[in-house]
Amino acid sequence: MSRWMIAFCSLGLLLVLSSPAPGEETAAPAGLRGEAALGDRHRFVVEDILRLCEPDNGFWVDLGAGRGQVAIPLIERTDNPVIMLDPNEQSMAEGLRIARERGMEHRLFAVVGVAEAMPFPDESVDLLVSRGSIFFWDDPAQGLREVDRVLRPGGKAYIGGGAGSGFPREATEKLVQMRRERMEGPEAERWQRFVELRRPEQMEQWAAAAELPEYTVLGKGAITIDPEMGQGVWLLLEKPSEP
Ligand SMILES: C[S@@+](CC[C@H](N)C(=O)[O-])C[C@H]1O[C@@H](n2cnc3c(N)ncnc32)[C@H](O)[C@@H]1O
Repeated sequence: MSRWMIAFCSLGLLLVLSSPAPGEETAAPAGLRGEAALGDRHRFVVEDILRLCEPDNGFWVDLGAGRGQVAIPLIERTDNPVIMLDPNEQSMAEGLRIARERGMEHRLFAVVGVAEAMPFPDESVDLLVSRGSIFFWDDPAQGLREVDRVLRPGGKAYIGGGAGSGFPREATEKLVQMRRERMEGPEAERWQRFVELRRPEQMEQWAAAAELPEYTVLGKGAITIDPEMGQGVWLLLEKPSEP
C-alpha cells in the first residue's frame, strides 16, 4: 500500500471514529462529558431503581443502554441478567467487553433496536430501565407506548435522566451550577434545549400522549434539586396487574 493510501485510510478511520454512531446523541452539548469529573452517577440511579421499583427477578431490559452504564451495576447489585437495547452497536459491544472483563458475560446481553419498535413480545418484561435516552428518541410517546406494551402486568419501568438521589449533595449542587452557567455560555442554545427536554412537564406531556394508564413523574429536572430525588426527572410506571 502506498504512503498516500495509508494516509487516506487513516483519515477515513479517524472520520469514522469521530463521527457519531447511529442513534448517538448528536444534539447533546459537548460540555456534558466534563460532568463525569464530578463522579459516577449510575450506581446511585441503580439504588433508586431498586428502592422505587422493588423488581421481581426475571426479564430485565436497559433501554438506550449505551455501554451498559446502568445495566452493569444493576447486575452487580442483583445478579439478575439484563438485556441492553440500543441502536448503537458499538456502544453495546463496549458494554459486552466490560462485562466479560468483569466475569459477567453470562448476565449481560445486547439487542440492536429502538424504543419505538422493541423486538420483544407483549407483556414479557418484568423491569425496564432507561437512563439518559428518552430525550434522544425520535418519538418519545411511541417509545412509551412500546414500554407499556412489553411490560407484563405488575412489571415496572423507570425512565428518565439524572444523577440519582444518593449522589453527594455537594456534587449535585456543583452539577446544577455548571449547567446554569453553561446555559449562558458558548453552547447556550444546546444547554437550553437540554434543560427544556428534561422538565417534569415535558415528561408528563410524553406520558399523557402515550396514554399510559398509571404513572408518576419524579424529580424537578436538570437544573433544580428535589429534596427526595436529587437532580433529574423520572417516569415511574407499573403496569396494572390483571384483576
Ligand atoms: C446519553 S446515552 C445514555 C447511555 C446510558 N443509558 C447511560 O445512562 O449513561 C443515550 C443512549 O440512547 C440511545 N438511543 C438514541 N435513540 C434511541 C432510540 N430511539 N431508542 C433507544 N435508544 C436510543 C443512544 O444510542 C445512546 O446509547
